[in-house]
Amino acid sequence: MRVFSGIQPSGNLHLGNYLGAIVNFVSLQNKAECIYCVVDLHSITVWQDPNKLYKNIHEITAGFIASGLDPNKNIIFNQSKVKEHSELSWILNCVARLGWLNRMTQFKEKAGKNKENMSIGLYTYPILMAADILAYKATHVPVGEDQKQHIELSRDIAQKFNIDFKDRIKSIIQKDEFFILPKPLINGPVPRVMSLRDGQKKMSSSDLSDMTRINILDDEDQIYNKIRKSKTDSDVIPSDFLGVDGRPELKNLISIYAGVSKQSPEDVIKEFGGEQFSKLKKNLTDLLISEICPIGSEMKKIISDPLYIDEVLSDGAERARTISEPILAETKKIIGLA
Ligand code: TYM
Repeated sequence: MRVFSGIQPSGNLHLGNYLGAIVNFVSLQNKAECIYCVVDLHSITVWQDPNKLYKNIHEITAGFIASGLDPNKNIIFNQSKVKEHSELSWILNCVARLGWLNRMTQFKEKAGKNKENMSIGLYTYPILMAADILAYKATHVPVGEDQKQHIELSRDIAQKFNIDFKDRIKSIIQKDEFFILPKPLINGPVPRVMSLRDGQKKMSSSDLSDMTRINILDDEDQIYNKIRKSKTDSDVIPSDFLGVDGRPELKNLISIYAGVSKQSPEDVIKEFGGEQFSKLKKNLTDLLISEICPIGSEMKKIISDPLYIDEVLSDGAERARTISEPILAETKKIIGLA
């Protein structure tokens, strides 16, 4: 079992990243060989302020470590330090089909009506993601629900490569298949955390309003304000989880509560059934302050030592390269470039 996953340094590390992905990264570190990447090349598919990008790379790295990822046990690095990602990405660009990319819902959502003005990188972004995973022949990819379609595309690309070059693979490595088809692991505590202002939209670092998300670096006052002002409806809380159907904002707060307190949503709804939202909001605020603020404080401590972070990233990149270099070299041989 080899695990690969990545997070973009495109702003704030938020509760969605944490509950959808990072909690799972941490639990996997004791079960598998894990590679966790700060995907800086993905982040530049939309404009990033060059004065802030390196700081953001450091912040995500600090977030990994503060959440409990051990940089000795896991390989932690930033994508642009390992050139194999970009090189394999080009090769896979030539394997993937246009029609496959045209089906990617995330591009459609991000581009909206402004498609013609988006970068080409944003469009081909899922291919770089496939290269990230396939460059390590990762078997499992822990992600939030929004990334499922991209992992499926990675599987399609791996499969097409294996079929297109079947004979060469057989003669060069004496196997039927070269790339492993990666499996998505979408089993974080909350696979889809929604915006605090709109229960139909996912929590995201690109949302213009900071009130829509809890950032791991938020302080107590910010958490208090954001939860207090989070959208709710006017009904009382039901005692049964089935009763949250059609009430997305309630469902989101209950799911967050359950994810952070490591309980099932059914148990949480029993606790708050028949109560007003004010009680749920107060308890959720206390819970977030006690569970998330310490991670944020640890993150700040780590951020204050940039030399340490640089060391972690360089060491991680070196270890990452020992895996991806031979895989890329074999890929080139298989397709006849070497
Ligand atoms: P990114 O940076 O948008 O998000 C990082 C991880 O956090 C999860 N996530 C969420 N989970 C639950 N609820 C949310 N609201 C929420 N928002 C984000 C994402 O699902 C993801 O797991 N393309 C990827 C990064 C990537 C990658 C990879 C992932 C690049 N290469 C290779 C896995 C393997 C992305 O943009 O994630």
